[in-house]
Amino acid sequence: MAYTVVSPSNIAFIKYWGQRDSSLVLPCNDSFSMNLSACVTEIAAEFFEDPAVRELEIMEYGSGSYTQATEAELSAVTDYYNVAKRYLRAESDFGFRLRSKNTFPKKAGIASSASFFSAMALVLARGFGRVLAERELSILARLSGSGSACRSIPDGFVWWHAGHDSASSYAESIAPAEAWALADIVLIVSEGEKRVSSRDGHKWARTSLYYEDRQNRLSSVSLAMREAFERKDFTRFGTLLEGESFNFHAIMMTQQPPLLFWSDRTVRVLSEIHAMRRDGIEAYATIDAGENVHLICEAKTVESVLRRLAGNPAIRDSIVNYPAIGARSL
Ligand code: PMV
Repeated sequence: MAYTVVSPSNIAFIKYWGQRDSSLVLPCNDSFSMNLSACVTEIAAEFFEDPAVRELEIMEYGSGSYTQATEAELSAVTDYYNVAKRYLRAESDFGFRLRSKNTFPKKAGIASSASFFSAMALVLARGFGRVLAERELSILARLSGSGSACRSIPDGFVWWHAGHDSASSYAESIAPAEAWALADIVLIVSEGEKRVSSRDGHKWARTSLYYEDRQNRLSSVSLAMREAFERKDFTRFGTLLEGESFNFHAIMMTQQPPLLFWSDRTVRVLSEIHAMRRDGIEAYATIDAGENVHLICEAKTVESVLRRLAGNPAIRDSIVNYPAIGARSL
């Protein structure tokens, strides 16, 4: 019988960018996100006594069938297995056969690694025979190297405390999924792979002239966003999250080497969102390290947004997400 887990991707309203310690994956700042109901990774795992069994099959988005993972993908999983073994102080090894599928395209800035590695944290804890509390599980997910994976463990709206060491850098839910009926409409302008991994991007964040300024401002931005969240003041919340996303991209564009993820289609979609606001449809944009745009609106606005965007030539596909629970086994 396979052990099956499902874990969501998450979208950050306050972005994690830059690490204090890259081997422990300790971020420079707190970040804040929402789990996504329709962007999930499902992994079915079988465990074996023979540690030589190491298999990973992946069903690519839209493909309908499983294929053998690449060597690089399998070795990322093996590396994480070794990290988990150390973290859990496990003494014996096990073999695994994994089948993973996504409901969304990988490597296009929809945090596919966050959903994959948070799901893997559950799989590995189980494989090593451990039952972890949520905080420990989020720490284990953080140690995967895709730090934002820790935010996919708890439910709903999640805060990742930067912390000062490994034990104090964990994610926790600040509100359940039903706390606020928000939506994240992922507007896919390209399904191409991004050219630079966030792992490399984090490394050079501090070379931006504006990085220190960003760090200095983040605590007041975080506080303001948290207050707007508690009051469900969507105009304030949206304005802050969009500003934060532009600030984050300004850092990436000015770090060395510079990272520019936006394509002409990204810019066209951003302009359209601004035009929508002028016409009274309240929607805001946030973008991760990729060219696709996450349109954040209230659930009641989803219909008008979709009507307005129907037939937009810059948009290839869209995925409507609502706040969701975190990683879980089925
Ligand atoms: O979790 P990582 O190491 O892949 O970094 C992700 C960073 C961003 O997605 C760009 C921002 C965030 O907080 O999710």
